[in-house]
Amino acid sequence: MAKLWKKMKKGKIFEGFRSLKTRIFCIIMAAGIVPCVVLHVGILERYLDNTITTRTNEVQTQVKIIADHLITYNYMLDNSSDVVNAELSQLSNLYDGRVLVVNGNLKIIKDTYGVSEGKTIISEAIIKCLKGDGPSNSLKDAGYIEIIVPIEEKLEEKTHVAGVMLTSVSTDSITNGYEYIQSRAFLLEILAMVVIFGIALLLSRKMLKPFEKITDAINDVKNGFTDEEISVTDYIETEHIGDAFNQMMGRMKVLDNSRQEFVSNVSHELKTPLASMKVLADSLILQEDAPAELYREFMLDIAEEIDRENKIITDLLSLVKMTRTSADMNVETVDINAVLELLLKRLGPIATRAEVKLVFESRRPVSAEIDEMKLTLALSNLVENAIKYNVKGGWVKVILDADHQYFTVEVSDSGVGIPQESIQHIYERFYRVDKSHSKEIGGTGLGLAITRSAILMHRGSINVNSEEGVGTIFTVKIPLTYIAS
Ligand SMILES: Nc1ncnc2c1ncn2[C@@H]1O[C@H](COP(=O)(O)OP(=O)(O)O)[C@@H](O)[C@H]1O
Ligand SMILES: [Mg+2]
Repeated sequence: MAKLWKKMKKGKIFEGFRSLKTRIFCIIMAAGIVPCVVLHVGILERYLDNTITTRTNEVQTQVKIIADHLITYNYMLDNSSDVVNAELSQLSNLYDGRVLVVNGNLKIIKDTYGVSEGKTIISEAIIKCLKGDGPSNSLKDAGYIEIIVPIEEKLEEKTHVAGVMLTSVSTDSITNGYEYIQSRAFLLEILAMVVIFGIALLLSRKMLKPFEKITDAINDVKNGFTDEEISVTDYIETEHIGDAFNQMMGRMKVLDNSRQEFVSNVSHELKTPLASMKVLADSLILQEDAPAELYREFMLDIAEEIDRENKIITDLLSLVKMTRTSADMNVETVDINAVLELLLKRLGPIATRAEVKLVFESRRPVSAEIDEMKLTLALSNLVENAIKYNVKGGWVKVILDADHQYFTVEVSDSGVGIPQESIQHIYERFYRVDKSHSKEIGGTGLGLAITRSAILMHRGSINVNSEEGVGTIFTVKIPLTYIAS
């Protein structure tokens, strides 16, 4: 008992019920057992009641007939009539019972057992019957039915109760029959139970087979035995699970491919500056008495390549930080106007060097819940691009606006623009429209990838509009309140 209680506390007893197989098994069992119980109660118990009622009615009818004969043969005054006595003993033999004839003074004038004749009988039911309450009967626990029928004679159109007939009929034959049927029914029920149990066991196993099949198939893929598509078409449900799993595998393959591509891109990008440095160093080594100026010139080139390598690594680290999990978001309520002002102030010198005019237009004060570091990096990249891919004497304009839900930052420039066919690629890692030009001005091709990731982490959106030779407009839209996933 204590063990059971412990199990229940741990929820282990109910654990098995979480299995679909167990549930199907239980449902089939219930579906089989409930009709059995209904049949048992509905038919068997009814049978007993019905038989007793039928027997009672039968005996009552017979007794009534004899009661009439009692009057006809004037039996109440003289109980020596052979005809009536024969009828009485026949009745008592037939139903394995006893018949008493009682007169109006409660005196027993005939007992088929012959033991109580001449005695007085006092019973409520008999008195009631004598008073004219009509026949009555009752089932006694001792195993017999007691039937009381009035002996009525007609005197001047009036019915007068001259006495009663008290008949006790044994119910033994009925209960014996009932017990026999009951034992038979019990056997049948046990048999039915065993069959239902077997069916439930088999069906619950069979019905769950496709689910086991699909689990096995998924496990095979998981353990690397196969990478074929899963298809278990037994049920629509298993087909759906298979489809969903195949789609997931497809997505994983795409992710895996893009990860491999990324790794090979990274290696390539990191190797390029190294290769340049190697060439520069080698040519110095090969020239035995190279002049000091050449050394200096080559060393400057090497330093430049180191800077580039450094920039690529810095950008890669930023990109890794912009993973799309919200866990490492450092969200605070921040004055966006101040953020943009500071950002533009920092980029001022670069703009001046590129001879580009930098304008900031704020339509209203905005404060929002953002990760300041990440959003600053995202917007810096946009403004930096607008300066870098511009023309001498051009301009860059940053406009801040907001409604009740979002704030928008628009970065427009009068620069070279982006060719239509390149627009869909600019957010890809390491993508650059004009590789040589971009490299010349220090691009790694990671800037917009970082920007997009940072904006998505804020659940915002980024859009671009560009025309070659005219300029580009990037529009960033971010919710004012941060929505955690
Ligand atoms: N404002 C802009 N005007 C023109 N071209 C742009 C602009 N912003 C981005 N691009 C193009 O998109 C490419 C990808 O940008 P980005 O990811 O920032 O890489 P990069 O390191 O080259 O700047 C750039 O190489 C450039 O060709
Ligand atoms: Mg850039």
